Amino acid sequence: MASLTVRQLDEALKQQLRLRAARNGRSMEDEIRSILREAAGETEAPPQAGPASRAETSATAVAPRLLLIVGGGIAAYKSLDLIRRLKELGYAVRCILTQAATQFVTPLAAGALVGGPVYTDLFNPDHEFDVGHIRLAREADLVVVAPATADLMAKMAQGHANDLATAVLLATTAKILLAPAMNPAMWANKATQRNLAQLKADGVTLVGPNAGEMAERGERGLGRMAEPLEIAAAVERLFKAENAVLPIKGKRILITAGPTHEPIDPVRYIANRSSGKQGYAIAAAAAEAGADVVLVSGPVNLPRPQNVDVVAVESARDMLAAVEKALPADVAIFAAAVADWRVANAGAQKIKKRPGAATPQLALAENPDILSTIAHRSDGRPPLVIGFAAETENVVANAKAKLARKGCDWILANDVSPSTGIMGGDSNTIHLVTAAGVDDWPPQSKEEAAAMLISRIAATLTGDRH
Ligand SMILES: Cc1cc2nc3c(=O)[nH]c(=O)nc-3n(C[C@H](O)[C@H](O)[C@H](O)COP(=O)(O)O)c2cc1C
Repeated sequence: MASLTVRQLDEALKQQLRLRAARNGRSMEDEIRSILREAAGETEAPPQAGPASRAETSATAVAPRLLLIVGGGIAAYKSLDLIRRLKELGYAVRCILTQAATQFVTPLAAGALVGGPVYTDLFNPDHEFDVGHIRLAREADLVVVAPATADLMAKMAQGHANDLATAVLLATTAKILLAPAMNPAMWANKATQRNLAQLKADGVTLVGPNAGEMAERGERGLGRMAEPLEIAAAVERLFKAENAVLPIKGKRILITAGPTHEPIDPVRYIANRSSGKQGYAIAAAAAEAGADVVLVSGPVNLPRPQNVDVVAVESARDMLAAVEKALPADVAIFAAAVADWRVANAGAQKIKKRPGAATPQLALAENPDILSTIAHRSDGRPPLVIGFAAETENVVANAKAKLARKGCDWILANDVSPSTGIMGGDSNTIHLVTAAGVDDWPPQSKEEAAAMLISRIAATLTGDRH
């Protein structure tokens, strides 16, 4: 009987065989045996079974589709382990390697772990007719970039699309999770931090980077890629969060934010220190969860959140009018710091300082109470009315009293004493006061507090909580 060895095959055939074997998780010899068995009419032996996964255990269950983009960083080797972890969790994983990434890991190794082709080229005639960058972008429930290089982050922040990875990142409407990895000096660089701020504003989620030893000898600092298990946990969190807020989808949510400006005369006004950050973060989180969001905003210095209808107002009376016009709503969240009083005798002209003249006296008049007005409406009251209580003392006790007085359903109370740095700052410590009791939320960023509120609202809309 004639014998044939792999070595005797020509290079092109060997390469094809290598790829086929890698895809099926077999050695080249096993792949040849399988081909011969198929040719002889035997049923094909199944590829080696991996760990039981969500995708494999149920033929009918649809596995969440995850697109992993591997950037050209030294941490790319960890992404091979990440593929394994994600597959163990039952995700259907597709993988793109940037050209630089192919210097660190091979498409063959990534393909063997993914169990399918790995994509590297934007201009690949096979893929353009078969998968193509738009299909890769569309057929993903989540896109993970690990490692996210400084270069990839810069291109994303600028909206570049000159290779497969960036074209897909620009074309996708799926959530994006970035696991940055780079030298600490590159991470700390103002350009990277600028790009990071832009990406966060665009709604990208981050995991890491961590602090620690770098691959370069003697280098330490912030810039290590999060470990594969941490990234897999962040992926799970994102999917869970997405499901948790599903009941918000399509609901109309009305939010107020910022201070109000109460005119003294055409050039002067009374205001407060509200930055509007918490209300804007809630609007962004609600829009991200698929709500139809209208944000009635006092004067602030913040970018408009994406997919939010912003109505800009100045005074408390303007704000009430805009709120009433925006009804009906399923949920109303009053996060604005509305001035309690306005100047009763606001000048139509600029009040002039005249030598020897008496100092002008400002008489104050009470402003409409927007929260109470909406919460007490007999018709068109939103089913869930939520107020904020900015207190400087007896925070929870005052919030409980406010809940009863205003007729709203929930109060989010926070201590805005100057020492807390909450007013105008980036973090918040909230006590959620409802008829059922008080929930003390941990100190967290205003974005995290917003996400927590949206999840809580979603649970209420499904009837899980009240
Ligand atoms: C040995 C070596 C290691 C590198 N490691 C990193 C890294 O960890 N993070 C990073 O942002 N860039 C790193 N770079 C630079 C990137 O490879 C380079 O910016 C490349 O253009 C990134 O391409 P990509 O973003 O398309 O993957 C490294 C370069 C070399 C030569």
